[in-house]
Amino acid sequence: MDAGRMTATTHLPPGPDRLSLDDSARMARNPLPLLLAAYENYGPVFTVRVLGGPQVFALGPEATHRMLVGNAGNYVWRAGEMSDLVPLLGDGLLTIDGPAHRRMRRLVLPAFHRESIAAMAATVAEEAERAVAGWRPGETVDVHGWARTVAMRIAMRALLGLDPDDGDTGGRAAREFERALAFYGTDRLARRSHEPGSPLRRFEAAREALDRIVYAQIARRRRAGDGRGDILAMLLGARDDDGRALDDREIRDQLLTLMFAGHDTTASTISFLLYELARNPEERALLQAVADRAPGAAPGLAGTANRLEDAIDETLRLYPPAWVGPRLALAEDTLAGVRVPAGARVNYCSWATHRLPDLWSEPDRFDPARFADERAAALPKGAYVPFGGGSRTCVGMRFAHLEIRALATAILGRCTPELQSDHQMTVRPMPTLRPEGALHMTVRPRQ
Ligand code: HEM
Repeated sequence: MDAGRMTATTHLPPGPDRLSLDDSARMARNPLPLLLAAYENYGPVFTVRVLGGPQVFALGPEATHRMLVGNAGNYVWRAGEMSDLVPLLGDGLLTIDGPAHRRMRRLVLPAFHRESIAAMAATVAEEAERAVAGWRPGETVDVHGWARTVAMRIAMRALLGLDPDDGDTGGRAAREFERALAFYGTDRLARRSHEPGSPLRRFEAAREALDRIVYAQIARRRRAGDGRGDILAMLLGARDDDGRALDDREIRDQLLTLMFAGHDTTASTISFLLYELARNPEERALLQAVADRAPGAAPGLAGTANRLEDAIDETLRLYPPAWVGPRLALAEDTLAGVRVPAGARVNYCSWATHRLPDLWSEPDRFDPARFADERAAALPKGAYVPFGGGSRTCVGMRFAHLEIRALATAILGRCTPELQSDHQMTVRPMPTLRPEGALHMTVRPRQ
C-alpha cells in the first residue's frame, strides 16, 4: 500500500471537523495553547485541521512511547513533513528510514560515544571561553545571536575540522549554510518560484558553494589520512560489517545533517537557559557557586555538575527546541487507545507533553529541582523526550550537553547576564523552537 498517497481524512482521531484558518495561524505562531486545549477537550490523541491537511497529535507518555519505541517502525520520516529537507540533507540520518537508517546509525553512533565527545571537550571549552572573553561589563548582548555564532564556530571545528576564522573555508561554509537554511524560513508558496533571485535559486547557489567546501575538505582529509579527533575523522574511519567505508556523498550528507540538527537546537537551549536564569536569580546564584568551584570552567564539574544538568534538563522541558516529531503512519495503529489510520500524518510533541498538568506540577514554572534523581526516575517512559527516543534518539545528545555546560559555565563564571526590565520573550516554533528576534541581555560584572 502506498500510505503516502492516502488522504486519511475519515476515521481520524477526534478534533474539530473543519479546516480552521485561525487554528492554522495559531499553529504557525504558537501551537502550545491550542495543543493543550485540544488535549483537555479530546484526550491525548487528536486531530488538528490546518492548511496543508489534517495533522494528528499524540501527547502524553503512552502515545509518545508507542510512536518512538513500541511501534516505531510504523512511523516514518521521509514520506512525512521532513521530505522538504532532502534537497539540503540528502540521505542524512534525519531523512532516511528502515534498514538504511539502521545501517547509517551503526556507522555514525561511534562518533558520538563518550570517548569521542571527550576528545572534543577542549575545542568546545576553548570556543566557549573565547566567545565570552569579549563581553564588557555594562554591554548589551543579543545572547541568541551570540549563541548561534558560537554554536556555528563549534560545529565548524568539531564536525568538519574547519577553521571558522578562515574566510575561504570555515567562515564561508558557515555563511553558505545560513543562506541555505534561510530557504526553510520563507513562505511555502514563495519557495516554488524558479525565477532568478528567488529563494529556491539562492538556496541552490548556497548549497553548491557549501558542497564545494565540504567535498574539498573530505578530499583533503582523505589524502592527509590524519586521525584528528573530530567527527569527520570518525566518519572517514567508519566501516560496515563487511568492511565497506562511507563514500564522499554519504559523508557529506551526514555532516550537513549534523550541522542542521545540532546548530539551532543548541543555540536556542543556551538562550532559553540564560533567559530563565535571569528570571530566577536564586537559581542563577546557585549555579554561579558551581562555576566558582570549577576554575577554568567547562565540562566535567565532578560532584557539582548535577545542579547545572538539572537546570539544562528543566530548560529542555520548558522549551524543547525540536518540539515536534512529524511522522507518517504506514499502517493502522492504536495510540493510547485511539485508532490512527494508515496514511495519517502523526506528530509526537515534546513541548506539549512536557507541559501536561497531570504529569508535572506547576508545569510552566522553571524548577530545576524537579529533576533531582528520584523524581526524574519516577517519570513514566515517554513523559520527557527533548531528545526523542528509541531508534531515532538524538545522536548529538552528549555533545549538546557538553556544549551547553561549557557555555553556561564560561558565562556564569565571569558575569551575570540580566534581562532588560521591559523585555518580553516571544517564542517561535519554526523551524525549531527559538526566541523570536534578538534576546538582549545586559552583562553585569559578578558581585
Ligand atoms: C539541545 C540540543 C539538541 C536537541 C534538543 C536535539 C533534539 C533532537 C530530537 C528531539 C531528535 C529526534 C527527532 C524526532 O524524533 O523526530 C534529534 C535527532 C537528531 N539529532 Fe539532535 N538535538 C540536539 C542537538 C544535536 C546535536 C548537537 C547534534 C549533532 C551534532 C544532533 C544530531 C541529531 C541527529 C543526526 C538526529 C537524527 C537521529 C536519527 O534520526 O537517527 N542533535 N535531536
